[in-house]
Amino acid sequence: MKKVTKAVFPVAGMGTRFLPATKSIPKEILNLVDRPLIQYAIDEARDAGITDFIFVTSRGKSALEDYFDGSPHLEQTLNAKGKWDLLDLLHSTSMDSGEIAYVRQREARGLGHAVLCAKRLIGNEPFAVLLPDDVIASSTPCLKQMIDAHEETGGNIVAAMEIPWDKTSTYGILDVTKTRGSIVNIKGMVEKPAVDNAPSNLAVIGRYILTPQILMHLETTEEGAGSEIQLTDAIAAEIKASGNVYGFRFEGERFDCGSKAGFLQATVAFGLSRPELYDEFSRFLSSIVATKVAAE
Ligand code: G1P
Repeated sequence: MKKVTKAVFPVAGMGTRFLPATKSIPKEILNLVDRPLIQYAIDEARDAGITDFIFVTSRGKSALEDYFDGSPHLEQTLNAKGKWDLLDLLHSTSMDSGEIAYVRQREARGLGHAVLCAKRLIGNEPFAVLLPDDVIASSTPCLKQMIDAHEETGGNIVAAMEIPWDKTSTYGILDVTKTRGSIVNIKGMVEKPAVDNAPSNLAVIGRYILTPQILMHLETTEEGAGSEIQLTDAIAAEIKASGNVYGFRFEGERFDCGSKAGFLQATVAFGLSRPELYDEFSRFLSSIVATKVAAE
């Protein structure tokens, strides 16, 4: 079986939920503790064995490309000052030319269309898709868990977790037949159903391992929910064609950094997980919560 070494990062969205910040800064560059959101997805992919990083961008995303560029002037300055720890940090987050590629999504036509834009770079092999809005804290990177499940089943794998029923209309939802440990057998998948039409409350989270057949389906997928070409619909076509698609209940905590509340929760959780910040930050949080509770 061909190893999964390529990952697609759809980063063409306008980030309207974070206006006005996203007027001039791409959403993926917004800072979570001390690094941009996109860095978490890159690190997760690299730790899972990904070597080819494909970004599907759009107009106004040049700050994202600059972030991955070399920074010779900054490096010289740090070198001259003997700031080796900061130099190491820069090196650990930089990307070599050749391991990173950019394709433009010329029109905002949805997630499925964004993935299809990367078709020529993906070629005829299985690939990963990571939506950087979904940040997942886990001991084994979520994508690594999924690649292991892909190697076990040979199939398409979509990350899944239960969500509150009143949120089904904001996710792709799985139609479950059977659960075997972390692998979930499914017979369908539907994008953003109203609660009354939702087949379950098991939602797709932004991590996918997909076979090239999905690209074939995307070629003919018509506009679906929100009048966009949905990745969910192409995966649903593959469920019908081969049944070779599985849900995967990953181990880890997921933060929805596509929403303000989720981004704030991630900031608190990731801030508290840093030993150098823990004491001061946890004291502050305890005291602000105590003051609020006392005032209520
Ligand atoms: C996308 C997918 C949806 C999935 C979600 C996970 O939706 O279309 O199926 O459940 O990501 O975050 P979006 O959040 O981009 O609207």
